[in-house]
Amino acid sequence: MKKFLWIAGLSLAIVATVISCKTRFETTKAQYKATHSDAAFERGKELTFAVCGGCHYDNHVHKFIGKQIQDVPGIAGKVYSANLTQSKSHGIAPQYSDAEIRYLLKTGIARDGRFLAYMLRPNMADNDINDIIVYLRSSDSAVSPGDTTVGLTHFTFIGKMYMNMHADPLAYKQDVKLPTDKVAMGYYLVDNLGCFHCHSKKVTKLNLLNPDQTKGYLAGGAELKGAMGKKVTASNITFDKNTGIGNYTAEQFRAALMEGKAPDRELQPPMPKFSMLKTEEVDAIYAYLQTVPPKVHATKGM
Ligand code: HEC
Ligand code: HEC
Repeated sequence: MKKFLWIAGLSLAIVATVISCKTRFETTKAQYKATHSDAAFERGKELTFAVCGGCHYDNHVHKFIGKQIQDVPGIAGKVYSANLTQSKSHGIAPQYSDAEIRYLLKTGIARDGRFLAYMLRPNMADNDINDIIVYLRSSDSAVSPGDTTVGLTHFTFIGKMYMNMHADPLAYKQDVKLPTDKVAMGYYLVDNLGCFHCHSKKVTKLNLLNPDQTKGYLAGGAELKGAMGKKVTASNITFDKNTGIGNYTAEQFRAALMEGKAPDRELQPPMPKFSMLKTEEVDAIYAYLQTVPPKVHATKGM
């Protein structure tokens, strides 16, 4: 009995320590200023909508004021993304230096030292990160001040424990370049636009450094939450003819991605509409997906 109490006491002490010691990391002190140009603004706008929009853009207000992230189990708490507009009172991005935004995307370390995994993009080219920063600093209406906060993140006991267990920043990768080859560009987009986050086995088990080594890579099956919390299963987007998208023509693939129209149905959220992408980019993704080994994995009607 005594031994039991002792073990129970010790376990409680460990759990309490894990929760109370909020893991903090060093942020960067680098002196970096994004290079501005019209081309950087255009590219940055496209990327900010395509990469950050799913979690930060509000479709009613038409601004990056942030929103609730639906896919966090209620038991872990409530998570809201940040307001990325230039609001002096509510915007988070204006408090960040250019170097700190770049550091957050490459390592997951926020300016206050917290680890935030949501927007880790270790393989994003330095030029693309530059352009996203240029866009966030621009006078475009979607990033002009939106003085509201949708909600503040609150983790429960269980959520905090989980977050502390998974605080694993990545090493800063220097000089990441944009690929030039079409298939490599397709892989780059599947990685950075987060296609593989949703279309693999589990959103919580991603290999961010080597996306194609993620479990169940692109074979679908993850149960996600769409509009009004409705469950939607992500499709198998490998080129298997029966359970994947092996029968898609390049035209049909463009319609699915850019207009949300699959050959057999209207696609539901959270599948984003990538209407901001260029046709060449969608075609590069199509070319790349054809090189991924097809997997037999039925996801429809699940
Ligand atoms: C998968 C969803 C998701 C995506 C995609 C995403 N974010 Fe976030 N972001 C979040 C969440 C959630 C938070 C709030 C985290 C918190 O405070 O707990 C956040 C917070 C932030 C913050 C504030 C961090 C702080 O110090 O509080 C910045 C800056 C940011 N995101 C930038 C970006 C940029 C730039 C992109 C696109 C390149 C992006 N995010 C893409 C979910 C996302
Ligand atoms: C936030 C999660 C999410 C992201 C990011 C995402 N998808 Fe999807 N996607 C889904 C879901 C969920 C469905 C199923 C929708 C339905 O059945 O109505 C889907 C369906 C599809 C389909 C239709 C396949 C079929 O069943 O016929 C294609 C093609 C597709 N996605 C490709 C992509 C590509 C390529 C990317 C990246 C550029 C991407 N998706 C990014 C969640 C996502």
